[in-house]
Amino acid sequence: MPAFPAAFGLTSGQVEQAVRLAGMAPSLHNSQPWRFRIMPHLIELHADPKYRLPAADPEERELRLACGAALFNFRLALAQAGIRPLVTLLPHLRAATALAEIRSGGHEEPRPADVQLCEAIPRRHSHRQPFRNTPVSAEDKHLLVRAAQGEHTWLHVMRADQLDVLEGLVHRANRAQMADERFRAELATWVGRGDDSAEGVPLSAAGPKPEPQDQWVHRDFTGGLTAREPGTKFESHPLLVLLCSRTGGPEAELRSGQALQRLWLTATARGLAASMISQVLEVPETRQSVQELLGEQAAPQALLRIGHGAATAASPRREPADLLIDSASER
Ligand SMILES: Cc1cc2nc3c(=O)[nH]c(=O)nc-3n(C[C@H](O)[C@H](O)[C@H](O)COP(=O)(O)O)c2cc1C
Repeated sequence: MPAFPAAFGLTSGQVEQAVRLAGMAPSLHNSQPWRFRIMPHLIELHADPKYRLPAADPEERELRLACGAALFNFRLALAQAGIRPLVTLLPHLRAATALAEIRSGGHEEPRPADVQLCEAIPRRHSHRQPFRNTPVSAEDKHLLVRAAQGEHTWLHVMRADQLDVLEGLVHRANRAQMADERFRAELATWVGRGDDSAEGVPLSAAGPKPEPQDQWVHRDFTGGLTAREPGTKFESHPLLVLLCSRTGGPEAELRSGQALQRLWLTATARGLAASMISQVLEVPETRQSVQELLGEQAAPQALLRIGHGAATAASPRREPADLLIDSASER
């Protein structure tokens, strides 16, 4: 097997590790829609068109969120290796799939805050189990808000008076998706795969099968393959946060993906658990209603539930070598 390509004066092993960490980012149904082209002085991040999810994400907004999250991990990995990453979003490259290019801004001592977030990457998982009924502290909330601001987005902490409306919208969106045969068929291909699959959501990470009495409907990743343990009850007051950008569009989505990952890693580093509740932002009508609920000029990008929970299972990932675009052959 040829050696992993090297770049920026790092060893091939260091670059491979950076790609591995990037690939640990969250993505819709664990599709991992990213690829990297590594050249000695330039690294490109591309969307992988093979992993589009046209039923759930026809505009590819969530694909760009996922790629933004992978880009944030990649930035952290380079920083930890002593390289200051310089990122250009949506460079005018020949390939339509190009989302970002990364250059080296020279050597720099890693900052402790970046190292802490980088170390949290392998510990961050979607936590679909019930949380403990312990509130998130004001200090932690403040850090989460700051994390979103650090990536040019903002975090709306849902207020108690907004929760009933939001809850109704989440249920409405979930019903609309589950009534859509195309959506169900697409989702079915990403769940209940065998242990040897490097993609999709395994049963060990699926969480309890949703039931009508659940306050916040979780996406059903059980594929009907497991029953719910009797007595399973979700926490009564999770912290619900909505990550927003000022405008929509691909660049804002890539920024929001980076913010999503900074936020989620900050939560992980603070010992908090999180999962996403995206149906409400995927269905156009309910997304519009969420925007109206916010009452300000905003593009809602991601809804997360955050709280305290026990350790949870990881989902699989493709190997770094499978995430490479061969620089010589493809464009
Ligand atoms: C844009 C986006 C939307 C997502 N929506 C949901 C969701 O609605 N429900 C859910 O349980 N997980 C959701 N996820 C989480 C993915 O399913 C998860 O990241 C993936 O399965 C990999 O698992 P991990 O987060 O544990 O690494 C979403 C992730 C992204 C990036």
